[in-house]
Amino acid sequence: MDRTTHPGTDPVIETYRAFGEREARGVSPTFEAWARGVCHDAVVADLLATLPQGKRQPNLVFAAARWHGARGTYDVLRATLVEQWPHVRATILARATQTNEPNRCAVLLPFLAELPQPLALLEVGAAAGLCLLPDRYSYRYDDGTSLDPGGGPSDVVLPCAVGPGVAIPSRLPEVAWRAGIDLHPVDVEDDDACAWLETLVWPEHDDRRTRLRAALDVARRDPPRIVPGDLLDLLPALAAEAPPDATLVVFHSAVLAYLDAGARQAFVDVVRTLPGHWISNEGARALPTTAHLASGSGGHGFVVVVDGVARGYADPHGRSLTGFDA
Ligand SMILES: C[S@@+](CC[C@H](N)C(=O)[O-])C[C@H]1O[C@@H](n2cnc3c(N)ncnc32)[C@H](O)[C@@H]1O
Repeated sequence: MDRTTHPGTDPVIETYRAFGEREARGVSPTFEAWARGVCHDAVVADLLATLPQGKRQPNLVFAAARWHGARGTYDVLRATLVEQWPHVRATILARATQTNEPNRCAVLLPFLAELPQPLALLEVGAAAGLCLLPDRYSYRYDDGTSLDPGGGPSDVVLPCAVGPGVAIPSRLPEVAWRAGIDLHPVDVEDDDACAWLETLVWPEHDDRRTRLRAALDVARRDPPRIVPGDLLDLLPALAAEAPPDATLVVFHSAVLAYLDAGARQAFVDVVRTLPGHWISNEGARALPTTAHLASGSGGHGFVVVVDGVARGYADPHGRSLTGFDA
């Protein structure tokens, strides 16, 4: 059977079709074209089908191809995959999608700022910890609000478009304590790891790459503590280390997709037993309570959920935030 003519029957083709249509369309013409190309290329689809299930996702495969020089058209991607397959495959197997997007702080900020200050920030799935530094960045919301750290504008300036139903704060949150958990923390002093983080940023998104480099520089000046391990194992003990006179906020962005349904439910059960607050910034389908929002007008974006209450749609890379009516 020619798998490319039976897309519904082939999980690889279906994955790349969905990625191209739902995630890359309108966001990365290169990745949209690459995903479409894979869907019509039985040779490449067969190569990808030899990868373990959890290693076939387009973000990882395309980043690995870019790591080995693929740029531009689908033909270049194809040549890279076919001609350098042992190298690309080794990169896919050795690395993971740990995209750390500091701009997500711009969609978390309104919800952090409404809590009693100072805050004790605990991020699960923190990667390099760049989302643990919301008080060290500058913000430019398109309603005209500019926010800068006390010492003056940061080298990291985060733009964000805001829709109705969002209260943009007038000052940055005060952070008394911060810590993260990650299966594989990214060391901001490790050049190779930082280069991989840059490669994970989609091809056309030079603005994101520039902000990532600047945010890594900010983190290097005083790196946040990231504890290695599984969030389910470490969360209660790390939360107990937070100072009692600060408001504990457990938060996460783009992490629950890595957990199976049982682990997600176990995480929700644990986080609900903790004192303080819980902010989730994830795809709508990541939590059963927000799954119905996947078909809304912002359904291809993330949903910000505070203490179990859905508060708004967020662009997955933090470029925009639209509130729900309270
Ligand atoms: C896509 S990155 C997101 C990083 C960051 N939250 C952000 O928004 O920029 C997801 C991170 O979650 C981590 N992760 C996935 N499953 C995890 C688990 N069970 N325990 C701890 N970390 C996990 C991965 O290692 C990865 O660094």
